[in-house]
Amino acid sequence: MSRPVRQRILITGASSGLGMGMARRFAARGRDLALVARRAALLEELSDELVAARPGIRVVTAAIDVDDAHAVAEGVPALAAQLGGIDRFVANAGIGNGSSVGTGAAAANRAILATNVLGTHAQCEAAVELFRAQGSGHLVLISSVASVRGMTGTRTAYGASKAALNALAEGIRSDLLGTGIRVTTVLPGYIETDINVGRRGPFTVDLDTGVDALVAAIEREPVRAYVPEWPWRPVSALLRVLPLPVLRRLT
Ligand SMILES: NC(=O)c1ccc[n+]([C@@H]2O[C@H](COP(=O)([O-])OP(=O)(O)OC[C@H]3O[C@@H](n4cnc5c(N)ncnc54)[C@H](OP(=O)(O)O)[C@@H]3O)[C@@H](O)[C@H]2O)c1
Repeated sequence: MSRPVRQRILITGASSGLGMGMARRFAARGRDLALVARRAALLEELSDELVAARPGIRVVTAAIDVDDAHAVAEGVPALAAQLGGIDRFVANAGIGNGSSVGTGAAAANRAILATNVLGTHAQCEAAVELFRAQGSGHLVLISSVASVRGMTGTRTAYGASKAALNALAEGIRSDLLGTGIRVTTVLPGYIETDINVGRRGPFTVDLDTGVDALVAAIEREPVRAYVPEWPWRPVSALLRVLPLPVLRRLT
């Protein structure tokens, strides 16, 4: 099925990794961008690079901490006003690096849950309000393969946060069925970025390979995408049915 070109794309977490990679790919396709993260200088550098490489596109930036729900609620419409609307919103900002529950890392685990769940929820509220007013839009939530089962150690809070996003996305999708608003949940496997330095697992792909697969998946606008599809769709299906002692050894 042919999809409309999503010309004006807002990406959170655009100061590094997958967000920066998506910004580069979409800019190369001539899309206008709104880039969000906390590190404003990195966003400015990226904006200059993108406009120099592809004159004619519009790139606007905003330093917003997604943990600050008020800043998100005010910042997103302000960015939309600068571009005359937002056609796709990629809720990508996220953090990892927790520790096993009950080992003295409550604050780190809580921060993961706060940013990944409440920060993404704030983004969804702002994005869907915009889309409802426009009558159209594509909301993309960046989840993780770590969401398909409970994960051990550093990924316990992280996996739980991403499982919450899967349910959040599905609920929003259900609310919006039959409207012009689409919702995609993306579950990446391991892609080399700052979030997983020293903690990469099997089937890790480099950033370029991962971002190519990610952008291709987002442009298809499916309900759910695994990135890259191979091997992560079959691996996810397997993870869902493995007995816990086996799962524990593999994850
Ligand atoms: N790489 C993988 O293998 C993988 C796999 C599955 C899912 N993911 C997901 O992909 C998304 C992007 O991660 P990445 O791999 O690209 O890691 P990354 O390089 O560490 O990027 C994380 C981005 O999120 C932003 N961010 C973090 N906390 C924020 C906050 N409170 N407010 C605003 N922005 C915030 C960071 O920007 P500032 O620090 O400038 O704010 C940064 O741009 C995350 O949601 C991650 O969970 C990644």
